[in-house]
Amino acid sequence: MKNVILTGDRPTGRLHLGHYVGSLKRRVELQNSGKFDEIYIEIADSQAITDNFDNIEKIRNNVLEVALDYLAVGIDPEKTTIFLQSRLPQLCELTFYYMNLVSVSRLKRNPTIKEEIVLRGFEESIPTGFLTYPISQAADITAFGANVVPVGEDQLPMIEQTREIVRSFKHYYDDILVEPEALLPENEKCNRLPGLDGKAKMSKSLGNCIYLADSEEEIKKKVMGMYTDPDHLRVEDPGKVEGNMVFVYLDVFATEEHFKKYLPEYNNLDELKEHYKRGGLGDVKIKLFLNNVLQDILRPIRTRREELSKDMDKVIKILIDGSEKARKRAQITVDQVKDAMGINYFGE
Ligand code: TRP
Repeated sequence: MKNVILTGDRPTGRLHLGHYVGSLKRRVELQNSGKFDEIYIEIADSQAITDNFDNIEKIRNNVLEVALDYLAVGIDPEKTTIFLQSRLPQLCELTFYYMNLVSVSRLKRNPTIKEEIVLRGFEESIPTGFLTYPISQAADITAFGANVVPVGEDQLPMIEQTREIVRSFKHYYDDILVEPEALLPENEKCNRLPGLDGKAKMSKSLGNCIYLADSEEEIKKKVMGMYTDPDHLRVEDPGKVEGNMVFVYLDVFATEEHFKKYLPEYNNLDELKEHYKRGGLGDVKIKLFLNNVLQDILRPIRTRREELSKDMDKVIKILIDGSEKARKRAQITVDQVKDAMGINYFGE
């Protein structure tokens, strides 16, 4: 069996540091590992419409931004097919056939859907398109025969739903679809990077993000305003590192090299934490250190992004060509599905 990756993002905003540690960095590693025969990354614009049908502008404005973010972090279109969901009618076709295999009550039980329904205030009248997007996500995954789907924890119910559809399809028709596995972030800390304000998750709607495209000044300003320990008023006071966002981020991002380069008086993060807990270490010092660390990580990404954005025709061509390639692959699955279902009446 081939080793195939499919994953994707809804283009509802530019990508941020949470996306970078939670998924983008890993995708680049997987891409360069040489372990996969095919890799697809989908800009899931059609899925994004299911809860933004009244604000398509938001999606229009972000399709190319997300493409730029992908390319800037090192997704290489020679190795990874980047495509736009709405350019593949094959995905709608599969969705329509899969819909027969899933009950409405099963969709309503999906924990992610349940959460999103509350979040968006859909209780009274859930748009059908929204309720059924997990089925369309199953189409995304199975269209490419993907066996590996790198995602965050919140997407596990979608993978489970896909697996059920694959089994059901096998039960009624034939064993032609691949049951995918989720690939979660390796590191628990990377799974959900909290926002700068310490709120649950870095998210655009909470306005607590550092974006991959942020300028040096914006990053510094955001870091200097981060939530630390509200009781750590004077430098000499003992401070708390738990729930202190600067330390939470340093845990994720700071390496020993960063210490050698910017804070040689400490060997590692444990020593820095001990000092902070004892007292005598001010917030400004740890924030300036974190700023240096993040600038080192984000500078090459931003530079590449700026470079790429000078030639948007090239970026557009990458999406058009990628979508064409993806369309051909998805058509093979559609043909197999129709054969298996017995709706290829004329045997063409
Ligand atoms: N639902 C995913 C998200 O909100 C995006 C997505 C669409 C996706 N299709 C996919 C992820 C297929 C993995 C596989 O982030």
